Amino acid sequence: MLNFQDKVVYQIYPRSFCDSNGDGIGDLNGITSKLDYLASLGVDYLWLTPFFRSPQRDNGYDVADYCSVDPVFGTMEDAERLLREADQRGIGLMLDMVFNHTSTQHVWFQRALAGDKTYQDYYLFRDGAPDAPPTNWQSKFGGSAWEYVPKLKKWYLHLFDVTQADLNWENPAVREELKQVIRFWQGKGVKGFRFDVVNLISKPETMTDDLQGDGRRMYTDGRHVHQFLQELTRDTGMDSMLTVGEMSSTTLEQCIRYSNPDRRELSMVFNFHHLKIDYKNGDKWAMQSPDIGQLRQLFDVWQTGMQQGNGWNAVFWCNHDQPRIVSRLGDDRQYWQESAKMLALCIHFMRGTPYIYQGEELGMTNAYFEDIGQYRDVESLNYHRILTAQGRTEQEVRTLLQARSRDNSRTPMQWDESPTAGFTDGTPWIPLPQYKPEANVQAQAQAPASILSFYKRLICLRKEYPLIARGDIRFLCPDAQDVIAYCRGLDGKKLFVYCNFSAREKRVPCPGNVHFLIGSYEQPPQMTADEIVLRPYEGCAMMV
Ligand code: GLC
Ligand code: CA
Repeated sequence: MLNFQDKVVYQIYPRSFCDSNGDGIGDLNGITSKLDYLASLGVDYLWLTPFFRSPQRDNGYDVADYCSVDPVFGTMEDAERLLREADQRGIGLMLDMVFNHTSTQHVWFQRALAGDKTYQDYYLFRDGAPDAPPTNWQSKFGGSAWEYVPKLKKWYLHLFDVTQADLNWENPAVREELKQVIRFWQGKGVKGFRFDVVNLISKPETMTDDLQGDGRRMYTDGRHVHQFLQELTRDTGMDSMLTVGEMSSTTLEQCIRYSNPDRRELSMVFNFHHLKIDYKNGDKWAMQSPDIGQLRQLFDVWQTGMQQGNGWNAVFWCNHDQPRIVSRLGDDRQYWQESAKMLALCIHFMRGTPYIYQGEELGMTNAYFEDIGQYRDVESLNYHRILTAQGRTEQEVRTLLQARSRDNSRTPMQWDESPTAGFTDGTPWIPLPQYKPEANVQAQAQAPASILSFYKRLICLRKEYPLIARGDIRFLCPDAQDVIAYCRGLDGKKLFVYCNFSAREKRVPCPGNVHFLIGSYEQPPQMTADEIVLRPYEGCAMMV
């Protein structure tokens, strides 16, 4: 089994990372040109979101050919060079396998549309009248999850965009095709995979209306999902690689099963419960201020639970679907540096493999777009329409999108202070954030107190102290408001972590015999024999 406890993964959204040819869109050669930067950061793996041939309706999550490179991102030779050059720097590449669905432009779907029964069975087609979808399930991007094809007099299922048709995993031929994709990229030297919404792949035999919700409880962590993952891993020898599954609306029990090494499914899992603490009644499009008590509780349950079940978490705040964490749980104006560092420390010292999303290491903020014309994401555009139709005011919709749009994380990576942030010589495909402090590589690379330098130290510490990579975890101070504190332990050594998620000073109990390891303020916090005084958004770690 691969050892991944002491590894750190860096996520790249190629479209927004670095543009090498001036067309305003990031590409593979752009990534290759920044490998020295990534090596200096100290990360072990790069997870690249999809760069395969795609109509780009969902920025590459609508794949038309899994074994190709979309011309927008470069050529197969560019991919091979990137793999080679990353390898020379000791960095492994992880690719994003979107196996729940394909683009409707994929040749399999095109053949299905042309009437080929073999390929119709690759997808989830159902008979039905044009005005009666087979079930009442909702697409995660809004609207019905079914689309009618008049020519075939059939509906097909799409849990996401109408151009993302769900694959029929119950069909063994589909599973064989997908194994071939894994083998193709293994042959190119890829070192790991991220599996997109992989806990949604197994649908019920008979699909029926969901009378309680949007349908998700009928297909999430479905009946054969574990069997399918075990088969995929076994038949491709994938258990010697780093694999991570994106788990949508899942449970702790399921995640233990997905990631317990004895079961040979995946190395680790993403879950999103901790990123819904500012959703009102679980609704992404209803605002509430973040509930830190709930966040603490969730981390406690998941971290302790995964430890007990010998599962393994991917730990993270940010990705290409989430708003920027410093704008969300930190204070991106008054305590920009302090809160960005506190948030980093909080995650990196937990039990699990940390994922850094491009620009997070610079404290990049939300976009704060003022105008709907600045948004690009299919989900944001859909919801702009849906919310407006519901009668929300323009101001309300603007505020919601500013807080929730996936475009918040998709603005160009900021390499320097120039008008296009060193991302492109042309016009960026999406505007830069409207509010931009010194969140760029040039300003931070040589500055010892910068957010970037802080991330580098966190990565080094993981390599230096086995306790951070492999220690056990226990949560502390359950009653301290707006504070998350925990203790890691290994072979008699202990690491205490304290994080203040507020702009108010906090006093919490702390053993007296500890010494300061690292913190979000330059100077260690004030301590008494049994108490620690945390400054606004202070995060710090102490050792015995
Ligand atoms: C995952 C991806 C997201 C994509 C969706 C459909 O949630 O992270 O970007 O839109 O799956 O593939
Ligand atoms: Ca380009």
